[in-house]
Amino acid sequence: MAIENIVSLPEVLKVTALEPTIGAEVAGVDLKKPLSPVLRDQLKNLLLKYKVLFFRDQYISREEQLAFARNFGALYEHPTTEKNDKNLPEAHLILAEQARQLYGDNVKGRWHTDTSWLLKPTYGAVLRPVSLPELGGDTVWADSALVYRNLPEAVKARIDDLYVVHNFKPSLDKVDYNYPIVSHPLVRTHPETGEDALFINFSMFPSILGWTPEESRELTDYLLKEFSNPEYHVRFKWREGSVAFWDNRSTLHYPVHNYGDFPRVMERVLIADDDIPHRVRPAKAG
Ligand code: SIN
Repeated sequence: MAIENIVSLPEVLKVTALEPTIGAEVAGVDLKKPLSPVLRDQLKNLLLKYKVLFFRDQYISREEQLAFARNFGALYEHPTTEKNDKNLPEAHLILAEQARQLYGDNVKGRWHTDTSWLLKPTYGAVLRPVSLPELGGDTVWADSALVYRNLPEAVKARIDDLYVVHNFKPSLDKVDYNYPIVSHPLVRTHPETGEDALFINFSMFPSILGWTPEESRELTDYLLKEFSNPEYHVRFKWREGSVAFWDNRSTLHYPVHNYGDFPRVMERVLIADDDIPHRVRPAKAG
C-alpha cells in the first residue's frame, strides 16, 4: 500500500492512498483542535489530489464537525433536511428512512453529488456517523474525472457541450422553498485542478437540456453504467469516530443500503461553493 509522508513542520500528516486516483486515509491530525493555516492548506491540497479524505478515531462532536468544515469555506444550510439542533442548522441528518423514501427501489439513483439543483452547488461535505449498523452501510465514492477521461472520444465529443437539469422542485415545494430549476454543463472543468469531470446526480432523474426524455434516458443510463464500474471507486467502511471529507466537484457518492431496517444515522455539513468560477468548457469551433 502506498504510504506518503508529508512533512511540513510543525504538522506531520501520514497519508495512505487507498486507490490509484481516489481516496486517502489521513492520520496525524486531531480534528477536535483548530487547524493551523499550514495544516488547513495541506488538507485542502490533499482533498484536491485524492478527492475524498478519511479520518479514523476522531470522535468529534457536531460543533467540532462544523468548526472543521468552516476551515474550508462558508457553510450551507440545506433547506429540506432534518436537523438535530435547530441552533446549529448547518449540520443536518442523513437518515436511513429518508433515503429509503427518496430512493425506494431506485438503487440506481443512489449515485449522487450534493445539491446539484443549486445554481452554485456546494463544493464539499464533511460526514460523520451517529448510529451505525453492526455491518454494512458503507459509502462508495466514484472519481467523476476518471469516468469522463475513460469515455470513448466519440462519446466525449457528443456530450461535451451538453447541459444537464436536476429537478429537486418536488422536495423543495414541500417546505415552501421557492427555487428555479437550473441546468449545469454536464462536463465541468474543476476550478482548482483543471480536470474535466462529469457532473450528474442520478438521484434527481437527470435530463439533458433540449433532448427528448428517451434520448436523455439513453445517455444517462449509459453514464450510470460507467459510474457503476468498480475501477472508479473507493469504498469506505464506517466505524465510530470516522470522518469523511469530500469534493463534490470531482466525485459522486453512493450510500450502500444493505442493513435492512436498521435506523442508520449520519450527520453531514455542506461547504458552500468557494466562488472560484467553474470554467465552462469552450465551445468547439464550427
Ligand atoms: C450522503 O449521501 O451525503 C451521505 C452518504 C451516506 O449516508 O453514506
